[in-house]
Amino acid sequence: MSHKLLEGKRGIIFGALNDMSIAWKVAEKAHEAGAKFTLTNAPIAMRMGAINDLAEKTGSTVIPADATSMDDLQNLFTQSQEVLGGKVDFVLHSIGMSPNVRKKKHYTGLNHEWYKQTLDVSGMSFHKVLQVAYEQDAINDWGSVLALSYIAAQRIFPDYNDMADAKSLLESIARSFGYHYGVKKKVRINTISQSPTVTTAGSGVKGFDEFIAYSENMSPLGNASAEACADYCIAMFSDLTKYVTMQNLYHDGGFSNTGVSAEVIEKFAK
Ligand SMILES: NC(=O)c1ccc[n+]([C@@H]2O[C@H](COP(=O)([O-])OP(=O)(O)OC[C@H]3O[C@@H](n4cnc5c(N)ncnc54)[C@H](O)[C@@H]3O)[C@@H](O)[C@H]2O)c1
Repeated sequence: MSHKLLEGKRGIIFGALNDMSIAWKVAEKAHEAGAKFTLTNAPIAMRMGAINDLAEKTGSTVIPADATSMDDLQNLFTQSQEVLGGKVDFVLHSIGMSPNVRKKKHYTGLNHEWYKQTLDVSGMSFHKVLQVAYEQDAINDWGSVLALSYIAAQRIFPDYNDMADAKSLLESIARSFGYHYGVKKKVRINTISQSPTVTTAGSGVKGFDEFIAYSENMSPLGNASAEACADYCIAMFSDLTKYVTMQNLYHDGGFSNTGVSAEVIEKFAK
């Protein structure tokens, strides 16, 4: 696929950790689609070094930033505009982390300091990114900002733990900031609610393999892949979706509207 849908556009892509990351696929496809962008991740994630390969492949500059630090974000937006030669047209927030999930704390017995970190890294960081962009006036009119979410924001998936609360916050920020940024600069802000996908963050959730199989069986089209998610992101960054804003967009093969599927019922047949 090489539609030059993003020709002339500039962007910032958060969250490419390795070649399984959804953000990694978005960067590859944005490059194919003609965009110029900077890549960013938490300084600690840089240690793995893989992001430099992606930068080389896509002709991008890497600018480290902890998405919970306003200073890092100020620097990221300032430097990105310098490197790219102007305001940006798109931003991808592809960030998630829960110390409670990592350390296997049950939802009914959370460590509340870690809970704050989950909400800060996975939810509030989206507000911080948007606030810095808004204050610097760093996004062009009709620009498009996306964050990645999961249906646990609406329904209970027990092992998703406190990440569910962070995703609810994330989706709410897209609506609230989407209103204000829309009025001021016609910038659109949405979340994409993606199928479970095999990545470093995804695999941290307990029982993930069984869960992927369940979701595959419950989705008429099957689980959406990371590549397909990246295609959807490119469409959302393009001018073909200019009036879509403040939405949580399901990209899940139909999972969210399926009560039960024949395959799942079959497993209960006596
Ligand atoms: N994998 C799935 O099943 C799935 C499903 C729906 C939504 N999502 C969401 O997609 C997004 C991307 O996740 P992924 O599955 O590609 O996994 P991933 O592990 O490749 O990406 C998560 C990224 O968050 C970054 N990050 C963590 N803390 C950070 C911080 N303080 N500052 C900046 N970056 C930080 C990590 O370094 C990593 O690059 C996340 O928001 C995730 O919740 C994933």
